[in-house]
Amino acid sequence: MKIAVLGLNHGYNFAQRIKGMAGVTLVAVAGNNAVAKNRAEKLDVPLFEDYKQLIDACALDGVIITLPNHLHKEAVIYCADKGLHCLVEKPIADTTEAARKMIDYCRYKQVQLLVGHHRRFSSKINHLKQLLDSGMLGDLVGVNMMWALAKDTDYFKEEWRIEKGGGPLLINGIHDLDNLLYVTDLHIESVYAAGRNKIRTLAVEDATAAILEADDGTIIQYFLTDGVPSPWSYEFNVHENPVFHYNEQDCYFFFGTKGSLAFPSFRFYQYSEGAYGWKHPLLERKIPHVEDTDPITAELEHFVNVLKKTEQPRVTGEAGLITLELLEAIKLSVREKRSVSLQELFCGDACEDMGFKRN
Ligand SMILES: NC(=O)c1ccc[n+]([C@@H]2O[C@H](COP(=O)([O-])OP(=O)(O)OC[C@H]3O[C@@H](n4cnc5c(N)ncnc54)[C@H](O)[C@@H]3O)[C@@H](O)[C@H]2O)c1
Repeated sequence: MKIAVLGLNHGYNFAQRIKGMAGVTLVAVAGNNAVAKNRAEKLDVPLFEDYKQLIDACALDGVIITLPNHLHKEAVIYCADKGLHCLVEKPIADTTEAARKMIDYCRYKQVQLLVGHHRRFSSKINHLKQLLDSGMLGDLVGVNMMWALAKDTDYFKEEWRIEKGGGPLLINGIHDLDNLLYVTDLHIESVYAAGRNKIRTLAVEDATAAILEADDGTIIQYFLTDGVPSPWSYEFNVHENPVFHYNEQDCYFFFGTKGSLAFPSFRFYQYSEGAYGWKHPLLERKIPHVEDTDPITAELEHFVNVLKKTEQPRVTGEAGLITLELLEAIKLSVREKRSVSLQELFCGDACEDMGFKRN
């Protein structure tokens, strides 16, 4: 299989892994800065400053698109036009309108569109999903999720990250919200959120609190900020990416009628039979961990298998769109300071016309 990687910052993770994979060739990479040039030399593959020239010049089976969010739509459409299957990074696009056009166009051109929500390939996330699916918590009543950390100051030098279409909700929060939808299979009906930029006073939020209501009555509370020293975030607690310092804490909590579960420690709390209620001791059980795997490698192997036609896409364009819709509803709620119904905002009929349900 012949693959190209467009964008060589996050994309370098894919490029390096492809170089070590049997039966897969990294044909070329695209990037337009000094870091990309240096990395292409290390990879020993041709570098194209303009990704369109790469697509025009190379014979390929599939393309991995790790360009800034606002370029996802034009890059996917450019590749689809040439019949190339795409794995595009999350968020699928900077707007739901762009995402819908990408999905339609890929369907029309009969190419596969996968979205890089790589945490759906995490062994811990899949373990969490199995536990929730097992019913051990009883009826799920609520979820509390946190993503609070401090990014380094250099991070904000890349302009697209601090302009409309960037920001921590779209770049980071989308991972947590996709995890939520994936592990619970909840259908979110409405959201109410408050967002502020009091730390950096830039165009994008630096803190957001959101309340989500699912159609089965489950309530979710989510807090995100990228400007405070704090140990509670997926990156720090699950530690799938060694770049981030590890903190042995939990970032997600699931509350059910029979018990509560903390993630990623997998500490489970319940009462013993016949001793229910706040005057009795809570029993704590640590559910054994599963073996850690590298989700990006798993995602890449899956993409190769999709190219070989031995697997169907696990994270489709539609799945990426549903997660992005939730993000857009949160942003609208922040702007207009009101509760937002997803059905109203995105017109359920249009979704059904496209042949898929919200989750
Ligand atoms: N799945 C994850 O965990 C994860 C992590 C980080 C980033 N991402 C996503 O990956 C994407 C890229 O993020 P990033 O932080 O790597 O961005 P970045 O700005 O640091 O890097 C972008 C890369 O694209 C290249 N580029 C930009 N415009 C180009 C053009 N016209 N032609 C050729 N090359 C071009 C740049 O040279 C650079 O190599 C975003 O969508 C982001 O949300 C995902």
